[in-house]
This record gives sequence, C-alpha cells and structure tokens, in this order.
Amino acid sequence: MAIVAPSILSADFSKLLEEVKSVESAEFLHIDVMDGHFVPNITIGPLVVGSIKGKVNMVFDVHLMISDPLKYSIEFIKNGADYIVFHYEALESHEKILELIDFVHKNNTKVGISIKPNTDVKVIEPYLDKVDMVLVMSVEPGFGGQSFMTNSLDKIKYLKNKKIKNDYKYLIEVDGGINEKTAPLVKEAGVEVIVAGTYVFKSENREETIKSLKK
Ligand code: DX5
Ligand code: ZN
Repeated sequence: MAIVAPSILSADFSKLLEEVKSVESAEFLHIDVMDGHFVPNITIGPLVVGSIKGKVNMVFDVHLMISDPLKYSIEFIKNGADYIVFHYEALESHEKILELIDFVHKNNTKVGISIKPNTDVKVIEPYLDKVDMVLVMSVEPGFGGQSFMTNSLDKIKYLKNKKIKNDYKYLIEVDGGINEKTAPLVKEAGVEVIVAGTYVFKSENREETIKSLKK
C-alpha cells in the first residue's frame, strides 16, 4: 500500500478548500511552492497553506522549489507544514544542507530532500540517515502535466536498497507524471509516497483514482 499525495497545483484555486476536501481520503496533501527563481513559475506562499490548515485531516507535504529554503521554511512551518521538502540543488554547501535539516527538526517538523531529474542520487548519500523523506523528481520541477521520466526508477530502487540495508527511516516519494501507466512502475521500484496532480484532480472520480493509486 502506497501513500497518495494529491498535488494542489492542479486544483481549482477559486475553490481551494472544497478541492482539498475532495481528496481528503488520501493521507498526504502535496503543496508545490515555486518562487519564479529556482523554477520558472510562481505558485503559492505560506498564507495559502495557513488558510487550509486545520480544515482538513491531512499531512501537509510542502515541496519548496525555491532558491532560499533557509530563509522561508520557518514561514511554512508556522503555517502548518508537516514536512518541509527542499531541493538539494538550491543549497550551495554541505553545511547549509545540514543547517536546514537541523533547523526544520528543531522546529518539530519533518524534513525531506529532493533531487531534480538530472541530479545523481548518490550526492544525497550524506543526508540519508538524517532526513524523513527523499523526493525523487520524475519531471523537471516547475509545472504540472508533464511526462514521467523513467530515470527516476533506478533512483527509487537505489534508495529502497539503501534504506533496507541501513535501516534508514525516510519515506521514498516520487513526483511528476504519475498516472495509471506509471504508478505500477514506481511502486514496483519501491516508492512509498506517490504525488499526483493532473491524474487525481482531472479524473472523473477523485476518490476512486486515489484508491487505485494506493493499491
Ligand atoms: C512539478 C510539481 C509537481 C506537480 C505534479 O514541479 O512538483 O508536484 O504538481 O503534477 P503532475 O502529477 O500533473 O505531473
Ligand atoms: Zn511537487
């Protein structure tokens, strides 16, 4: 059984709370934060996260596609993030990555590290014993509705093996291009949290779609 994390990037923002409630049967809510700098798109800020917090019973999985996660993570924590997931590529040094992991933990929040499709999974090895989640991007971050990139599968398998071998605690998450064809591939590879935007929000029956992804 996988955890499903619908991405609100594909929701109708004119009725956001209603949209979020329609996917409450999934355990996680994936919230894509973009700053127009780390990625060429701008989405939502901490106030939007705060406006839905407490109104649904879901784990808030906040995916920070921003250049300065050290500066802004606190705002998302204050507004209800349960997981702060930052990008390895956004931070220029090992020390800064450790600082952020430590900072998020000190604020009683779980922390995840994410890698873009062209980033080698081995670069995050020094953090695998410290993080609560590893997010493998299966599209170039920035937009919903893109096609799944198969090079994510080997990264997922690598993370699964490492986790078993070393008894690491992180959840393995995948994000981008998930649908009925790609979901079985990522599950087979060992993924535990499946992000899906378009596939869930544009489906006829969201609850059934979530159920089928969980299986
Ligand atoms: C892309 C985002 C994804 C996006 C996924 O940068 O991180 O979370 O919403 O959308 P789909 O599922 O449509 O590929
Ligand atoms: Zn995302």
